[in-house]
Amino acid sequence: MQKKTTCGELRASDVGREVVLMGWVHRRRTHGGLIFIDFRDNSGIVQLVFNPQVSAAAHELAEGIRLEYVLTIGGKVELRPKGTENPQLATGEIEVLVEGVQVLNAAKTPPFYINDDVEVDEFLRLRYRYLDLRREHMHNNILLRHRTTRAIRNWLNDQGFVEIDTPVLVNETPGGAREFVVPSRLHPGDFFALPQSPQQFKQLLMVAGFEKYYQLARCFRDEDLRADRQPEFTQLDMEMSFVDVEDVIQTVESLLLEVIPAACDKLILSRPFPRISYQDAISFYGSDKPDMRFGLPLADISDLADGSEFKVFASAVAEGGQVKGIRIPGAASYTRREIDDLTQFVIRRGAKGLVTMALLPEGIKSPLTKFLSEKTLREIVARLEGTEGDMLAFVADSPAVVAEALGELRLEVGRRLGLLDPNVLALAWVVDAPLLEWNEEEGHWQAKHHQFTAPVEEDIPLLDTNPGAVRAKQYDVVCSGVELGGGSVRIHQRGLQEKVFDVLGMSPEEANRLFGHLLEAFEFGTPPHGGLAIGLDRFVMLLAGEDTIRNVIPFPKTQSATCPMTGTPSPVSPERLRELHIRLLKTDLT
Ligand code: AMO
Ligand code: AMP
Repeated sequence: MQKKTTCGELRASDVGREVVLMGWVHRRRTHGGLIFIDFRDNSGIVQLVFNPQVSAAAHELAEGIRLEYVLTIGGKVELRPKGTENPQLATGEIEVLVEGVQVLNAAKTPPFYINDDVEVDEFLRLRYRYLDLRREHMHNNILLRHRTTRAIRNWLNDQGFVEIDTPVLVNETPGGAREFVVPSRLHPGDFFALPQSPQQFKQLLMVAGFEKYYQLARCFRDEDLRADRQPEFTQLDMEMSFVDVEDVIQTVESLLLEVIPAACDKLILSRPFPRISYQDAISFYGSDKPDMRFGLPLADISDLADGSEFKVFASAVAEGGQVKGIRIPGAASYTRREIDDLTQFVIRRGAKGLVTMALLPEGIKSPLTKFLSEKTLREIVARLEGTEGDMLAFVADSPAVVAEALGELRLEVGRRLGLLDPNVLALAWVVDAPLLEWNEEEGHWQAKHHQFTAPVEEDIPLLDTNPGAVRAKQYDVVCSGVELGGGSVRIHQRGLQEKVFDVLGMSPEEANRLFGHLLEAFEFGTPPHGGLAIGLDRFVMLLAGEDTIRNVIPFPKTQSATCPMTGTPSPVSPERLRELHIRLLKTDLT
């Protein structure tokens, strides 16, 4: 029953051909004694015509055919009558006059429209994912994912990268995301963990001498889910030997510039990708994953606000905080209520309030005019590059709160002004992040990227004196406000790795227990190496112009990490638990 012709391939040049097609009934209508069926397969749609004059039997059978029935038909390709062509359809110039039809399978009425791109409740879509994936939009997303991975593999293979897989049953690696664990039947009380990434194994592959590795690796993280986070997701994971920061950046940038045009027709905003330091990203965009599709940066006016009569500003600065603002083009005419909305918006993100300055033709309208001099007001307007018609909005608080509140407000303004063009990919590198950050709750330093990341050489002495000032050989690639990927040059010497473990508060015993294999490997001739991982799901999401990765993953989990179709996760039988030496606590089940 091998299928030789596909629905989507037929063109005017095929007129006169006898074809056999297999597929699904996409749409059905009757008109003037004829039955028309839009017939769909993986390649596209073609119109079938059932004419009782051509085949009374086929026409009669078609009377009983419903949407989503699976058919095989035999017929002849004809030009459509003048005026009935459909330019929307690749096959729109022709139709197939059916001579014989066989129903391969009937279909119940689907729980939602498959032939119409209407909004459907996501739970229902996931409950019947196989039907959801039949819909054109989702079908195209999965095909885009395929084109993307194919282009990735082609390019990397051509560059001499070797695709190698790494284990999925591994040990827990503290210090990163929470991991899923799998009980061992053969070793009572012991557990495997599912890898949050192949990090240690790819480094060991460099020790093993492979030099250029990649893998489309499934990774697992037991985290709270968001639109761009899933418990299992896929990374394009890469590692290279004898490289420094610049080499990895160049390689990944070339890869992206090759793959993106091969997979979609989105516009890459600037090439080479701009580079921005971590500090500047936070300072100008309030985010370590800045959306650089538009400007409107945050501007610091702490120096102008310092010591002023306006208590809200002066006291924030006195307490070591900041006053920053953004420009909202065309918002000078905002009503009280619109301003209140924006104020609530920043309050929900931790700010205490929002001070506004409307730049009206008659002058500045703002609570600040009572407290600040004409000169200072002018300087503030100049610093934010405000012009008549704009509104300026300010938050005074700790640097972290200011960044969060104004960074989000900036994105909201971009959204309102239509500046978040889904057809534009604003790729950029964020570099020079600090190696460590202070964990306030637990009172120790922790790795900002991960504990295998190398410090910038000249900063190594600071590990003893001022760990927070040590810069990392680390880079993130961001795209239109999404963290697309991240990586680093790694530590490749035992001594330095032990030193970093020590600064992270790990005892030598603990370091040996958890990472002894890696420390040992470093003593057997380890090349300098570095790499990066790109979130494949996020990448395809951006290429598809989607706003959640669930729409580019064939079988994703819900926001609460379940699968409505299979009912995953689910209890296991008491026998199974006994075999695994596991007893559930009653309190856990209530
Ligand atoms: P990192 O933890 O930054 O680095 O992950 C790399 C990229 O993976 C994607 N990602 C996710 N995508 C979907 N759901 C998730 N829960 C999720 N978590 C991460 C992001 C992210 O940028 N081993 C290092 C890489 C390296 O150093 O080479 C790592 O895993 O797009
Ligand atoms: P208040 O003195 O609390 O009535 O606030 C006066 C104005 O300043 C209101 O518009 C508040 O929204 C705003 N405001 C209060 N605290 C802050 C702050 N930390 N940063 C920015 N605006 C603030």
